[in-house]
Amino acid sequence: MFKKTIGILGGGQLGKMTALSAQNWDVSLQFLDQDKTFPAGKVCPNFQEGDFKNYDDVYQFGQSCDIITIEIESVNTEALHQLKKEGKTIHPSPEILDIIKDKGLQKEFYIQNNIPTSPFIFAEGKKDIIDKIQNHEISFPFVQKARKGGYDGKGVAVIKTSEDIENKLMDTPSILEEMVKIDKELGVIVARNEKGDTVVYPTVEMVFSEEANLVEYLMSPANITKEQEEQAQKLAIKVIESFNVCGLLAVEMFLSQEGKILINEVAPRPHNSGHHSIDACMTSQYEQLIRAISNMPLGSTTMRSPAIMLNLLGEPEYNGPVYYQGMEECLAIEGVKIHIYGKKVTKPFRKMGHVTIIDQNKESLLKKARFVQQKLKVISNIV
Ligand SMILES: Nc1ncnc2c1ncn2[C@@H]1O[C@H](COP(=O)(O)OP(=O)(O)OP(=O)(O)O)[C@@H](O)[C@H]1O
Ligand SMILES: [Mg+2]
Repeated sequence: MFKKTIGILGGGQLGKMTALSAQNWDVSLQFLDQDKTFPAGKVCPNFQEGDFKNYDDVYQFGQSCDIITIEIESVNTEALHQLKKEGKTIHPSPEILDIIKDKGLQKEFYIQNNIPTSPFIFAEGKKDIIDKIQNHEISFPFVQKARKGGYDGKGVAVIKTSEDIENKLMDTPSILEEMVKIDKELGVIVARNEKGDTVVYPTVEMVFSEEANLVEYLMSPANITKEQEEQAQKLAIKVIESFNVCGLLAVEMFLSQEGKILINEVAPRPHNSGHHSIDACMTSQYEQLIRAISNMPLGSTTMRSPAIMLNLLGEPEYNGPVYYQGMEECLAIEGVKIHIYGKKVTKPFRKMGHVTIIDQNKESLLKKARFVQQKLKVISNIV
């Protein structure tokens, strides 16, 4: 069962955490990314330096793998198509990756498969968008999303006024989405193996700070009704089955103020919204990925405890060798689990690690999370 070599395109923190869980079973794993000092390189000696966006690098890397998977979508899929033709197992399949990488094709897929999502239109670039506003094909407010290459909110612009057209509009092939009146943003991770078995994790809620307009923390289980939880989980299974994905699918959803659940977008890989599963669930999303793509029985997604996950981001004013301030105070608290990715240099808002807090009591869970949020800071001695 573990004779096969798994190759992962991308050697960042998601790769690192996958490698850590694979090591429990002595699975043979290798990575492709630009620099051995990246997070996965610290825990996996089979790290090939190269560019996962480059055809030759991916093709060559694939030669020494039996199963290939990803920790990032922006990989060279032409090489993956070729490797698949030559008999390699690729999860998620390159056909699905081509759809998901393009937010326009992804949205069309939802319409074709009767999956609820916000209404949208296509646009070529800035001039076309201005024409479409003048022709009343779209009206303020709307959300512009670059079809390709966006991540962590880059490639997304909320256009509310004529000034926003001047300052925020991107000149790139895009989709223009109706602005959803969001009550909550939810995430559901679902896994599927080659046999078609599925398991789904309890929903995660992204809790926003109104003040900073940023996700403040992620909490699971989400603060939603039992019916909404069931609906979200059922929808996530429908989405993974429609895409026919083997592996993981992180499904980002909006719960609208009218009470409807809409799909925002998906990622066919481990996801930020599943970090807590390492400490809070019977099976982490990383172990689940290995199980799913090796066609093993999927693991239980039951939660051991309610959890809050905080991303450890570089403080805005620091650029330089990283220092974690307040670790000791936080480590002294029961249920505080700190994960440092091992990046040498901090930059403003760079994802440097995360903290999962587990506690059976929701009040003390929140109290501990607030403490960690205030105490633990990612800084540098060079300003
Ligand atoms: N149609 C919409 N209506 C209202 N808000 C939206 C809409 N689409 C996106 N947003 C807001 O913008 C955020 C980022 O959008 P999206 O997830 O599509 O982009 P992204 O660049 O892939 O982000 P990330 O990598 O952080 O997931 C969403 O989490 C949501 O807060
Ligand atoms: Mg998103």
